[in-house]
Amino acid sequence: MGDLFKTSVELILENQSPEGAYIASPSFPTYHYCWLRDGSFIAYAMDLAGEHRSARRFFHWVDRVIRRHSQKVEMVIRKIQAGQGLEQKDFLHTRYTLDGNEENESDWENFQLDGYGTWLWALATHIEMTGRAEVLAEFGESIRQTVWYIENLWYYPNYDVWEENGDKVHTSTLACLYGGLSSIAERLGDCSVAALAKRIRSYILTNCVADGTFVKHVGSRDVDSSLLWLAVPFRVVDAKDETMLGTVKRIESELAHDGGLHRYARDTYYGGGEWILLTCWLGWYYAELGDVAGARRLKRWVEQTADAAGHLPEQVCTHVNDPSFYPRWVERWGEVARPLLWSHAMYIVLVNALMKAGAGEMKEAVRRS
Ligand code: BGC
Repeated sequence: MGDLFKTSVELILENQSPEGAYIASPSFPTYHYCWLRDGSFIAYAMDLAGEHRSARRFFHWVDRVIRRHSQKVEMVIRKIQAGQGLEQKDFLHTRYTLDGNEENESDWENFQLDGYGTWLWALATHIEMTGRAEVLAEFGESIRQTVWYIENLWYYPNYDVWEENGDKVHTSTLACLYGGLSSIAERLGDCSVAALAKRIRSYILTNCVADGTFVKHVGSRDVDSSLLWLAVPFRVVDAKDETMLGTVKRIESELAHDGGLHRYARDTYYGGGEWILLTCWLGWYYAELGDVAGARRLKRWVEQTADAAGHLPEQVCTHVNDPSFYPRWVERWGEVARPLLWSHAMYIVLVNALMKAGAGEMKEAVRRS
């Protein structure tokens, strides 16, 4: 465990607000919010690092946010039941201010369902790791509201995990919903929530596959690096599943460059560089497959993207999909976000996966000797 692990844990702790929110990036003004998506994976990393108190503080923050905005859940479901059309303002937001309020000044693409699944998954995993089942009762109301919201909306087109393509149904978003529902159902022992998760899984297997691989969204033929999430951590399929292996082969050949992973082939955000968090994800997947050497190689690649202060960026832009977009984004929002807390979180996850895989390797060597 090198310094970057320690720096990552410290950086995340330093940037958790008194209310429990994790700011996406302290030095990038557009990211001065807490996203349920980033935050849930960060809380997971904190749990892995033994910082359970920090993870708990984040879950308390989410619990308060969902209860504060729960009248929206009731309203939107009433509208669906009455057959009325839905507007963007009806949906729960994807990101909140650190004190848990909506940001309504910009026209941010707020209808994104994935984070609502991901927080349930992170919470269920927290309970599994800490044995604190009393949390289920403590957060009972926000869990119930979240499940109800997902149950009524999961098949609606909504913005993806990159906050784009709001007119599509996205495979990795569905994976987040499946992962959240199936893991919280297990903790609750709730068959109806488990049945809903199963329905979403079978929808994915029927509608999100083309030519033997998973695809970015229903009707697409492209891959996206977030498809890795289907195996780790959400377990829609096993890491060794044939369709998954084929998908990863495509991700490696179409989206990997010299170590780092692009989000998708036509990404133009800051030109479309290589993302640190996704590179960690591929390493996590390799570790799961037992490819320790592959995971170590990616860990080294990630480490060389840290600056002198040990800060990891969101992406590196040395090989971008379309260089003409890079200056346009710099002009609009400034240089690429650094540090990005989610990148640090995924580095922690990768180091942990490697430690586990290494322990497995060791056991196997002892067994053979
Ligand atoms: C990414 C999102 C992320 C947000 C904050 C966006 O550029 O597409 O996935 O949640 O930044 O980190």
